Amino acid sequence: MPPSDISPLLEAVDVYKSFPKAGGAVDVLRGVDFTLAAGEAVAVVGPSGAGKSTLLNLLGALDEPTGGEIKHDGRLLRPEVATDVTHWRRHIVGFVFQYHFLLPDFTAHENLLVPVRLVREPGPDDRARADELLAAMGLSDRASHLPGELSGGEQQRVAVARAFMNRPKAVLADEPFGNLDRGKGSRLSDLLFQLRDREGTALVIVTHDPDLAGRADRVLELDDGRLRPVAAATTSGDGFDEV
Ligand SMILES: Nc1ncnc2c1ncn2[C@@H]1O[C@H](COP(=O)(O)OP(=O)(O)OP(=O)(O)O)[C@@H](O)[C@H]1O
Ligand SMILES: [Mg+2]
Repeated sequence: MPPSDISPLLEAVDVYKSFPKAGGAVDVLRGVDFTLAAGEAVAVVGPSGAGKSTLLNLLGALDEPTGGEIKHDGRLLRPEVATDVTHWRRHIVGFVFQYHFLLPDFTAHENLLVPVRLVREPGPDDRARADELLAAMGLSDRASHLPGELSGGEQQRVAVARAFMNRPKAVLADEPFGNLDRGKGSRLSDLLFQLRDREGTALVIVTHDPDLAGRADRVLELDDGRLRPVAAATTSGDGFDEV
């Protein structure tokens, strides 16, 4: 059947993930079903070790499920086909990790062009887009700074801008502002959602921060290897973890 408009942007169908270990496998995901509509923002919460990063890595094709399927626009991601995986990582999804992973010898502006260089030699339009994204992140006056010449919050803002550079359909963010204090994190959450609103990009955000999760259209909790909806009332307060 051809992909149709009603297919979700991203879909995980009965996904399992185990890590083989001496003495018995670690079964992290045990039948996860997940759908992400175009432009939708979903937060994923859950205790430490629940498998949130594992799930994000599967959605981003950074790792392969042990069982089940990952689909984009109704089409199956075939992890064994390198071109499928490369296309997925370069054009469908953008990543924001907890640690920024900026290239230390490249300026902020040059770091934004890195995802473009994976696809083509950057042209004037790409440079203009990098400038525009840095401006959207309030970093116009930091474009020529190396990562080591930026504050932690500024580094994360560059990382967020970089994730949007190739106009992905979805940005996957793993604790994007987890290292920052609450005030800074809240400001960056504003900028992230402004960018999302402007570009129409879908978001999957793994977070322990109730403020950030509360901005999402839906909040899901990963626990015992499964994903479940969280009632809206529990998305405010001091946190999601019992710890
Ligand atoms: N490569 C691996 N080999 C074996 N076990 C692993 C591997 N990667 C992750 N795990 C285990 O899988 C479980 C889930 O890990 P994951 O990093 O997805 O948790 P998380 O929900 O992101 O936790 P946190 O909130 O602390 O970041 C953990 O118990 C972890 O020890
Ligand atoms: Mg994690």
